[in-house]
Amino acid sequence: MDQLKRQAAARALDEVRDGMQLGLGTGSTAKHFVELLGERVRAGLKVIGVPTSEATRTDALRCGVPLTTLDEIDHLDITVDGADEIDPEFNLIKGGGGALLREKIVAAASDRMIVIADDTKWVPTLGRFPLPVEVIPFGLGATRRAIEKAFAECGVSGQMAVRKARDGHVFVTDGGHWILDARLERIVNPPSLAKALSMIPGVVEHGLFIGLASSAVLAGGEGIRVIERR
Ligand code: A5P
Repeated sequence: MDQLKRQAAARALDEVRDGMQLGLGTGSTAKHFVELLGERVRAGLKVIGVPTSEATRTDALRCGVPLTTLDEIDHLDITVDGADEIDPEFNLIKGGGGALLREKIVAAASDRMIVIADDTKWVPTLGRFPLPVEVIPFGLGATRRAIEKAFAECGVSGQMAVRKARDGHVFVTDGGHWILDARLERIVNPPSLAKALSMIPGVVEHGLFIGLASSAVLAGGEGIRVIERR
């Protein structure tokens, strides 16, 4: 599986040109991209990156990729990032690694977002992977009830749990927030659920990425498929 992730990352690297400003995703697949990009930078490629997490910042610096921020530059050419699920409309679930907020800000500031993944992430309908909802700890009970109401109005339901880190403590995002993971199984209308969640005070961001991905590079046993959004 890790080999497939690296192949997808290598194919996305073909899209990178000298002088580009790049969004650098988070997760095990994006980590391959950062490492391969670092090799090219050390060989003379001139690019600059904006990392989507502290983990990616550390990886990029270790690999020699120069970094900047969205305060210093006004747009990104391409963001390359992984995903937890991709549907045929190019709606995504992201945030399995907890970096959804910065990932969405960076993707939205990019001309193109290329999703790199092994082909098990390509699904007919989103929802088998738990949907991450990033929340403010204050007033969590009220936020939870509002999220459950939004789920009901959008025709979905399922258990929600505060994400825990490996040490058993509450997982805290780079922005200092918590994550509720919602097991919805089948999200019938991702755009309407995305809108409803975005309206809730206390919800900082959610893992539905709608209209952001422009192409997907999927690596599988049969080779690599590059699918462009229509
Ligand atoms: C990080 O917050 C996520 O959005 C990742 O991009 C996503 O979870 C994919 O991660 P992997 O490449 O590790 O599967």
